[in-house]
Amino acid sequence: MGWRDITQVHRLTGDLKHNPAARVHPAAVTPEDAVAVLNAAHGLADPDGAAFGARLATLMTSVGHGLGLKDAAVRDLELAARFGRLAHIPLRDGGPLEVDGPETAAVSAAMMRWIGLPEGAASPLDEHAESPLRPILTTARESLEADPQIGANEVIHKIQRDRPGPFTSADDSDFDPERLTVDRVADVLGQLFARKNADTALHMRRVADLSELIARRLGVAPEERAVLYMAARLHDVGKLGAPDTILNKTDALTPGETARMRHHVENGAAILAVVPGMVRASRIVLQHHEKLDGSGYPHGLTGSEIDPLTLILVVADVFDALTDIRPYKPAMSAAATLELMARDMAEELDPATLAALQDIKL
Ligand SMILES: [Fe+2]
Ligand SMILES: [Fe+2]
Repeated sequence: MGWRDITQVHRLTGDLKHNPAARVHPAAVTPEDAVAVLNAAHGLADPDGAAFGARLATLMTSVGHGLGLKDAAVRDLELAARFGRLAHIPLRDGGPLEVDGPETAAVSAAMMRWIGLPEGAASPLDEHAESPLRPILTTARESLEADPQIGANEVIHKIQRDRPGPFTSADDSDFDPERLTVDRVADVLGQLFARKNADTALHMRRVADLSELIARRLGVAPEERAVLYMAARLHDVGKLGAPDTILNKTDALTPGETARMRHHVENGAAILAVVPGMVRASRIVLQHHEKLDGSGYPHGLTGSEIDPLTLILVVADVFDALTDIRPYKPAMSAAATLELMARDMAEELDPATLAALQDIKL
């Protein structure tokens, strides 16, 4: 089997996607939880953008009520204002900003849908959608950019002056909070990350699939495997806070850059910790660079101080990192990687997990 053939891995875990027991416990999180998790990610990627979004969202709530919009429409506006800038932020290092570009609009719409707006709801940010809310948001955004302290009444007057007439509101009668699961929040973060660094996003997917395979072989219970899968799938999401210049650097990192890079474990844990259903996954993410012999970071934990599920993630992560091409190194073969892990990392890695990995190879 080709280790780096993600299709193969997916085939082996074929029932994963269709087996409810293999997924994270589908406890619904509240829309507020989802918003909090996105806020955390947004703040990490661009604190200024997040602060602007928060001010705009507050303003839009007042404006929406001031204009007599239905609650559903106010909610649309609030979400669009808060997250409208989120999607382009990860692209910042890679090229010019395109705040209202098609990709931004598409991702914003997807995020709003995941947060709980109905399927097909027009995003006020989508240039091509016939949303009556878009002009309102645009006017408010321009006003706030010109004057960060502007009040709701002044914006309402601008809107009424520029765009007289009744405002219709979106209909979110289909909104179902039960649809909002930990899994969906993870999807949002994964989507966001894929736009910053596609290679890392694929790495997280592969590590999640490999962790699942190892955990099955070790006889880990389905609920535990679900937590592990979630943690593995997002374990490097804290790299949202690292500039692409560091992520893509081919030379050795300076001590300052290394420290910044290592901070991804705390960043990732902080994002996940917002949602109750992800608390243990958050702890695993925090620990995913710890080693059994205490040589890891951030806390130099040893032995039983490390969550048993983390031990599996660490092995899968090391294996995938070594067999993957990185900007600073070529890929190693699976055979050479397994040999190196057994020979040079025996003190650092869990022996049972390592044995399970070897078994899968056979
Ligand atoms: Fe990592
Ligand atoms: Fe990783």
